[in-house]
Amino acid sequence: MARRRVAILISGRGSNMAALVAAARAADFPAEIALVLSNRPDAEGIAAARAAGIAAAVVDHVPFGKDRAAFERALQRELAAHRIELICLAGFMRLFTPGFVNQWQGRMLNIHPALLPAIKGLDTHARALAAGVKIHGATVHFVVPEMDAGPIIAQGALAVREDDTAETLAARVLAIEHKIYPLALRLLAEGRVRAEDGRCRIDGVPASDRILLAPSIEPSDG
Ligand code: GRF
Repeated sequence: MARRRVAILISGRGSNMAALVAAARAADFPAEIALVLSNRPDAEGIAAARAAGIAAAVVDHVPFGKDRAAFERALQRELAAHRIELICLAGFMRLFTPGFVNQWQGRMLNIHPALLPAIKGLDTHARALAAGVKIHGATVHFVVPEMDAGPIIAQGALAVREDDTAETLAARVLAIEHKIYPLALRLLAEGRVRAEDGRCRIDGVPASDRILLAPSIEPSDG
């Protein structure tokens, strides 16, 4: 089966982009990264994509001012020129109009550094610590007009440590992101994900009884 053509949209560092690019190098990966698109000319990830031999383009949002629809038309032209079928948002820091989101319904993913539907928005690691959650993680979901909502495809979780800071949590959550984003893209590109009534059904996933306890204390003898 032909590999699905994917665009990754970034605004910055691009470590999730790099993880997707690395995964897509596997011969059996069902998607190819056909374009990396940034709204910021200085995004680190753009240089990294070019160095990796991937088509990279910049559509700077600044000249469009408040005209989001015009910015999106420019994005859409790049996506069409590269015959893109699926979009992965990876640290893309612009909000879309409902019109653009609906045009890509079921074909656009986002990664969020928290266990949705808790802790939407920014500064998720500091807010997880402030809320005192014991388990934290990351989520890949379909994009819908509402921010950080949309049917969930994959999540990964970790136990929060007593000495965690926002920075240490960010680093450990990022390692989870780099695993679940390629996993979610693989499942979507293989046609195994069905969104129904706001939740995703995923075909062919073995049942798991794995649990994560936090805090995890060794049982005492006796
Ligand atoms: C990640 O934490 C992602 O979850 C969030 O923005 C960050 C992007 O990091 N949406 P990177 O550019 O992929 O390194």
